[in-house]
Amino acid sequence: MFLPCRSIARGVTSLATRLNGCSIHTTTATMAPVKVGDKIPAADLYEDSPANKVNISELTSGKKVVFFGVPGAFTPGCSKTHLPGYVQNADKMKSQGVSEIVCVSVNDPYVMSAWGIQHNTKGKVRMLADPNGVFIKALDLGTNLPPLGGFRSKRFSMVVNDSKVEELNVEPDGTGLSCSLADKLKLK
Ligand code: BEZ
Repeated sequence: MFLPCRSIARGVTSLATRLNGCSIHTTTATMAPVKVGDKIPAADLYEDSPANKVNISELTSGKKVVFFGVPGAFTPGCSKTHLPGYVQNADKMKSQGVSEIVCVSVNDPYVMSAWGIQHNTKGKVRMLADPNGVFIKALDLGTNLPPLGGFRSKRFSMVVNDSKVEELNVEPDGTGLSCSLADKLKLK
């Protein structure tokens, strides 16, 4: 005898999928973008190769670290404007108490490394890859960019002091080049 499964949807985030007479309910997590005062997520990023993990909690413990997120390595806006601004301002930022400047993108570590070599980032900006978007998803700063293949980072800048977010500038349209540029950082 066939007995259809019954279920009751609870909450506005419940989704019901009808499958062979059964209702399967899944609950989608409600995310909120990272904000000033939040602790930085303990994700691993990759520098130069998949063998070289960089843990963000360890990287930011007891230090001031500037992050900037870009939609994609080698894209025109990121290559002509966003990354060069941080390379040019790196020494000044470091003289203002910044220990590390980190460029993050949802790309693989080899691509990030090659992009860094092209822009002479050595000793100035660390090129860290988030290949599966784990860090960007934990920050809830992702966006869907089909021309770049799908899930990518919004363009943003973020100052983290001793693992806490101290300043955050997210581009209103996700990819523009305004509030997240190097010369717009306040670095209080
Ligand atoms: C850029 O040039 O930075 C860009 C290109 C395509 C999508 C997003 C950003």
